[in-house]
Amino acid sequence: MFRTITSSFLLAIFAGAVYAHGNVVPSAVDVEGLPPLEEWGEENPYRDAEGETREKIIETGQRGYGQNCVNCHGLEAVSGGIAPDLRMLEPGFDDQYFITMVREGGKGMPSFEEMMEPESVWAIKTWLETKYEDAMAEKYGN
Ligand code: HEC
Repeated sequence: MFRTITSSFLLAIFAGAVYAHGNVVPSAVDVEGLPPLEEWGEENPYRDAEGETREKIIETGQRGYGQNCVNCHGLEAVSGGIAPDLRMLEPGFDDQYFITMVREGGKGMPSFEEMMEPESVWAIKTWLETKYEDAMAEKYGN
């Protein structure tokens, strides 16, 4: 009990320090049921998952996005202009760029390396990929 209070207190202070200019509080994503990953890697390891595993990955990714990315990158990943539209990242081709940005951050983009696990980040990417084709069609026509 005491430990729980202490660590959430510390997390609140830490989050306050890092995100003093935004209302972003990073939160851990429950990745239970996802195939475990030993390392970050450079390519989406979940892309070819099928069946229930794939459903679980996508559901986790949607939740993880809602917990950590939605404030800046927009509802349903449709950018409101503050940050880039993540639906447009090409599956495969942009994987390495995606994972580097999430781990290291950028201008106005926090680094998530210490706050998230590879499982939740690649789950988010897998969820984003379900929107790629529609987003491209929306932007460039069929
Ligand atoms: C505090 C706001 C904020 C949060 C929270 C945030 N981002 Fe970003 N993100 C940005 C901004 C601003 C950029 C543009 C950075 C740049 O160009 O250097 C960006 C860029 C990116 C890029 C590069 C996209 C491109 O097309 O160039 C990726 C990938 C990305 N973010 C993923 C994520 C993911 C995944 C999350 C959640 C885990 C997240 N971001 C959370 C603000 C945010």
